[in-house]
Amino acid sequence: MIETLRNTRDLPDHALAELLETPDLSLARRLEASAREVCLQVKGPRVLVRALIEHSNMCRNNCLYCGIRRGRASVKRYSLSPEEILGCCARAWRDGVHTFVIQGGENPVQARALLPVVKEIRGRYPHAAITLSLGELPFELYSAFKEAGATRYLLRHETANPEHYASLHPAGMTLESRIGCIKELKRLGYETGMGMMVGSPGQTTRNLIEDLRLMQEIRPHMIGIGPFIPQDGTPFENCPPGSAQTTLRLISILRLMFPSANIPATTALAVLLPGGKEAGIRAGANVIMNVYTPETERLKYDLYKGKTSRNV
Ligand code: 5AD
Repeated sequence: MIETLRNTRDLPDHALAELLETPDLSLARRLEASAREVCLQVKGPRVLVRALIEHSNMCRNNCLYCGIRRGRASVKRYSLSPEEILGCCARAWRDGVHTFVIQGGENPVQARALLPVVKEIRGRYPHAAITLSLGELPFELYSAFKEAGATRYLLRHETANPEHYASLHPAGMTLESRIGCIKELKRLGYETGMGMMVGSPGQTTRNLIEDLRLMQEIRPHMIGIGPFIPQDGTPFENCPPGSAQTTLRLISILRLMFPSANIPATTALAVLLPGGKEAGIRAGANVIMNVYTPETERLKYDLYKGKTSRNV
């Protein structure tokens, strides 16, 4: 039915749904092989490594799925000092990892305190890429970070369906606001990443196609997706996890839709599936994010069950 899989951009919704759901393993294999080939042609025979620095797990939000949500009392909260963050960068640089990803819970006050740290990193490593992943912040702060030397920003949209978004987040958080931030980041000239959890509670195949269409509209430079994994002590603790197979098929569809995007094989995929990072690469991903958070704090960045025991 689907003759050529060179590009998934122009496929109608029903064909995308077929790729996601088909039990026909020969079609699934063709999807994966096409994505791998396009990845090799466009991104070259290499896997890019990023240094993930989880600077703080303090978060003002209470997202129903998330292990560092404000309301999860068992979380020991921490935030790295500027020296600790600079130490992570130094270790990464020595390892030949020249992209620093500073990620943390959403917290505008702490985020602002990172401004001089980003400036310092830029001064010490003029050729590094500095990626931030700090959630929704005032636009003025996004702009100040750009001035300070940040070059990239990751902000997952989580789901492109407003009702589904509302069912995953507390009142007050809206998809509209999230998308407004993503568009502003692009406008400011950041290399911008978005993405969704796969198999979050209530998600349908239709929703996933809405995610793909939203990304076709916004055209992110980076796309991070991973399966939902329930975390103890969250409202979704008893929900089933997302599917590794669907995640892998989505990676392939995304590679064929956005050939030059940077797409990581995420830790969540590796938690759900042994060898998941390698499987993600085979499916068309080209980025690995290695955790450089100091050992002492790593266990506290507990987004989903199994994450902290599986840092590569
Ligand atoms: N399962 C999988 N991914 C999760 N995230 C947060 N909680 C979970 C979970 N339970 C992801 C979200 C967020 C990123 C930092 O981690 O997509 O954007």
